[in-house]
Amino acid sequence: MDIQVQGDLMEKIVSLCKRRGFIFQSSEIYGGFNGFWDYGPYGSMLKKAVEQLWWNEMVETRNNVVGLDSTIICHPKTWKASGHVDRFGDIMCDCKDCKTRFRVDQMPDPKTCTNCGSHNLTEPREFNLMMKTYVGPVFDEEHIAYLRAESCQPIFLDFNLIRIATRQQLPFGIAQIGKAFRNEITPRMFTFRSREFTQMEMEFFCADEGSMDWFNYWREQRVNYYKNKLGFRDDEIRLHPHDKLAHYAKAAVDIEFLFPFGWGELEGIHHRGTWDLSQHQKFSEQNLEYLDQATGKRFIPTVVETSVGLDRTILAIFCHAYCEDKAPTQKEGMDEDVRIVLRFPARIAPIQVAVLPLSKKLNEQAEMLQKKVSSYYRTELDVTGNIGKRYRRQDEIGTPFCLTYDFESDNDNAVTVRERDSMAQERVPIAELKKYLDNKIYGW
Ligand code: GAP
Repeated sequence: MDIQVQGDLMEKIVSLCKRRGFIFQSSEIYGGFNGFWDYGPYGSMLKKAVEQLWWNEMVETRNNVVGLDSTIICHPKTWKASGHVDRFGDIMCDCKDCKTRFRVDQMPDPKTCTNCGSHNLTEPREFNLMMKTYVGPVFDEEHIAYLRAESCQPIFLDFNLIRIATRQQLPFGIAQIGKAFRNEITPRMFTFRSREFTQMEMEFFCADEGSMDWFNYWREQRVNYYKNKLGFRDDEIRLHPHDKLAHYAKAAVDIEFLFPFGWGELEGIHHRGTWDLSQHQKFSEQNLEYLDQATGKRFIPTVVETSVGLDRTILAIFCHAYCEDKAPTQKEGMDEDVRIVLRFPARIAPIQVAVLPLSKKLNEQAEMLQKKVSSYYRTELDVTGNIGKRYRRQDEIGTPFCLTYDFESDNDNAVTVRERDSMAQERVPIAELKKYLDNKIYGW
């Protein structure tokens, strides 16, 4: 049924996202703001659903991982200790003629301006990616603070408090979902590289001995999640071990997704050694050692991290889900035409169930049904246009199930359920809808 997606897939996704209110440029009325994106009504529902899926997978279904929701701005010493203030940057150079700035590692020839061909370039220099602000009434060096560049640092700051409060013993993890900010020089590829984005990170604390087993465990867990929960195919994701490792790390691997512009990093699994806790112990002068009750030994725990961008996950979901196939049409002189469908997994679709009255005369009953169904699923009442057009509109926003309330429904207390991917229709009694949809959406 699928036909080749014609034309540039990225362009189609960007345009669909704007047209249907998923994702659009921030501050568009001022000409937009490069590297910043807003999630509209359907986009924010999708975002929350993907967040919840990750949280459920990483925290709610595990007894040895707990959650945190920390501030975005934390003590400025944090970023000195973590190394971000001194070393978190890209090596850049400027063309003195056309004034374009480049990341040196992305230039085909570091001696030639990629824009105008000039050789009149500045010496390469480091450009720090941390976003600065001031806290307090005085705007001077002493009052500089930073918007966090990764959501995980507060996890290390709060490690002891959380361990004691939750009575967790090693090995255990702390997870956090939250905003991160980087002054990226070349934000690009829609939301792929943004200046404000959301990360979903989990830091797993363990003894150094056995830490590579945990690294392998989390790598497997995360790959299985992409395959089983998001439905990514074997040819869409791959593992890419890092060529260079930080001096404190034993291993690092990226899970990459095949975006329309090529393979790109989706998630990093990092062995961080004892680096972060040791640094915060040194800078805070607080003891962050763990006492092993069984052996009586004190040591700084080793950390294995899983770190993924929510925005990149959503972009990958769009790339995976976007599809064009053929469907019957009521257009004059045509039996079928191209149908755009977002084949989102039903559990994360922004609208899981749309309720469609066949005629305006049935709006009231349909609205009553939608109210009932909305206790269990994300729903929408879709009343305008002929039924065929409404199905297409729902296909385009990825709604897996449409319930059509027709003139028979008043008599037989049943509705027609139309399934997005197969377009198959089935009559289901209203009393059995929950059981039917739970099974289809969650496999219960
Ligand atoms: N705590 C480790 C860390 O932050 P990272 O590889 O810099 O590691 C982890 O980032 C993930 O965050 C990436 O795999 C990516 O999904 C996401 N990410 C990083 N920079 C991003 C950006 N500028 N825009 C969108 N997502 C980004």
